[in-house]
Amino acid sequence: MNIKDSFAKAKRIGLFDSGLGGLSVLKQLLMLPDLNDMGDLCEKNQNSPSKLNSHKKEYVYFADTARCPYGGRSQGEIEQFVGQIVQWLAQNDVDLVIMACNTSAALVEPARRTGFSLPMIDLLHSTGDIVQKNAYKRIGVMATMATAKTKAFSKAIEKKQPQAEVFELACPDLVPLVESNKTKSREAVEALSPYAKELIAHNVDAIIYGCTHFPFLHESMRRCLTELSAQHTEMIDPAVCLSEELLGMSLTNMQMYPPDFADLNNRCRFVTTGNIETFRIGINNNLGLPFTQIEHLSVGELAVGETNKSRNNSASNIQL
Ligand code: DGL
Repeated sequence: MNIKDSFAKAKRIGLFDSGLGGLSVLKQLLMLPDLNDMGDLCEKNQNSPSKLNSHKKEYVYFADTARCPYGGRSQGEIEQFVGQIVQWLAQNDVDLVIMACNTSAALVEPARRTGFSLPMIDLLHSTGDIVQKNAYKRIGVMATMATAKTKAFSKAIEKKQPQAEVFELACPDLVPLVESNKTKSREAVEALSPYAKELIAHNVDAIIYGCTHFPFLHESMRRCLTELSAQHTEMIDPAVCLSEELLGMSLTNMQMYPPDFADLNNRCRFVTTGNIETFRIGINNNLGLPFTQIEHLSVGELAVGETNKSRNNSASNIQL
């Protein structure tokens, strides 16, 4: 089944990240119109965009805040964490997982996901389409240390636009800024500046936010680019690329409306391994919505789920 059909069929979708970053993906998904409106979507959008309804899927968002950041961690650690989280999501009746953490997607690449019991979608693959569509020639990627090392974005882009030159840059100072809710500060502009300078020096025509935390720094990034260069650089959010793929059409001229909050509070479940109050502030700042129900699950409890799974597996092996 292709990605669009898997998404259309899914009733409850699990998203995970090391912390607040994946909310940038959830934010895009929540604004997608109801896929049942697809038949006459174009016509409706042209004539009366306000009549588009947001879709009614349920979401479970898992933030592994206690172990954030993931960007400096080893492949073994990330594989273990992803295994535990996907296992927990499966136990909580999710029928599709969106890896809203590019570090996890880059390190646990598709060939290594075969052991998971749920279908998994990532944000990496769809960036190639947007690069191809816009015929970008020189692309900068801002990512975590771990993602940049894998060259996952270069590989995804090469499949669609082999002649494009890609410069992947590790930006380790940015995730802590987002996690500490300093996205719109002078400190953020200053932290972004050396990374932006390096990419501008490569004369890039577009920059991809290769870590899901970074779209929340967009306002500061724009300020930074304006201070550094008179030339316009396009910023690409891979969550937008994925949304276009899931919808099967471009979002460029589409008017999107944030869904109704009261309804969302019933459809979204938030779980963190970190501090509930800090996470609540992060949701409020970055999604602009005061979600009330946030659950805490300790890393220990998460790991117990995995231990039980391997016990059950060995038990069934013995029976066989
Ligand atoms: N937001 C994640 C990503 O897209 C992880 C960032 C981190 O924890 O270092 O890579």
